[in-house]
Parts: sequence; structure tokens; C-alpha cells
Amino acid sequence: MKNIVLIGFMGSGKTSVGKKIAESACLKFTDVDAEIEKNSKMKIKDIFARRGENYFRVLETAALKKVASRAGAVISTGGGIIKMRRNFPLLKKAGVVVYLKNSFAVSARRLEGKDDRPLFRKDNIKSARQLYKSRLALYKEASDITVVTDKKNIDEAARLIIKKTENFFGTGKSKIKK
Ligand code: S3P
Repeated sequence: MKNIVLIGFMGSGKTSVGKKIAESACLKFTDVDAEIEKNSKMKIKDIFARRGENYFRVLETAALKKVASRAGAVISTGGGIIKMRRNFPLLKKAGVVVYLKNSFAVSARRLEGKDDRPLFRKDNIKSARQLYKSRLALYKEASDITVVTDKKNIDEAARLIIKKTENFFGTGKSKIKK
């Protein structure tokens, strides 16, 4: 095991919680979406608009492969990482996979006023809700640990994840390679 990998729906706090874990546990922080944007020199929403979702998913798998080969990092992934089956073994290989679970209402509230999620549009909340529902079982299947974050702030969620992953590594002391 070498990294802590965060998965969960859009607006589940993967990036903010991930940064906090990294800071507290002296780990690096890596974001798969940021990696995609850096490699393609395009914003995620422009990739979707110009090249389509399928092309984005190809870039996403390539970026996941790249970050999974590193060690000692907290890796935040995009909410759709579980859409492609091929990503499941890559996630497992990358480290301990933590599912940040929250209600759809919490995600919707956190994403209010943001227009950078092509698959979460406030003029089509019904389809975003359907997407949320269709992914619940996939997040569960792909993860080792689930952390429910509805009533937790960033610090609380980060602390809990550090505690749970230490337990996961076995001895109460993290064996994450730095
Ligand atoms: C997506 C989630 C986004 C981003 C892209 C697609 C999804 O990441 O990867 O817009 O399919 O759920 P966040 O979960 O960080 O918003």
C-alpha cells in the first residue's frame, strides 16, 4: 500500500479533505483532474465540450495510471473514476481506497453556483440525481473504507480518514511509504 486514494461523487469534498489529510500526515497531494488538465493543457469542461466524455475517460485512465505509480500521496480522483471498469484494479493498486460518501443534497449544496462540472448542471438536477444513484454501488465496490461526511467538516473528515487508514494498514501506525 502506498497511497490514500479518495473516491466519491462530485461535491463530496475529495479535494479539500485530501489536501487536509496530506498536510496533516505529511504526504503529497495529487489530483487526477488537475493531472488531466496539466497533461492536456485544457480545462475539464472544455475537454467535455470539444472532445466529449469518452475522450475524457481515456485521459482519466491514463492520468490514474500515472499517479498510481507514485507513492506517499493522497490521490483525489474525479467522481466518474468508477465509471470505467478498467480503473478498478488501478485504484486498488494505487493504495487504500476511501469512499467519501454524502447525500445528493449535500453535493448539490456544495456545487451551488459552480459551472465547471459538465455532468452536474443545475438546469438538469434530475439527471445529476440519477447519476448519483447509479454510482452508489460502484463507489462501494471500488473502495476499502467508507466515510460518511454529511455532518463532518473538512478537519473532522480528514482526521477520521487518517485514523481509519492507520487501522487499515494494521498496526495503528501508518505504513504509507513517504
Ligand atoms: C466527473 C467529476 C469531476 C470531473 C469531471 C467528471 C464525474 O470531478 O472529473 O467533471 O463524472 O463525476 P469532481 O468529482 O472532482 O468534481
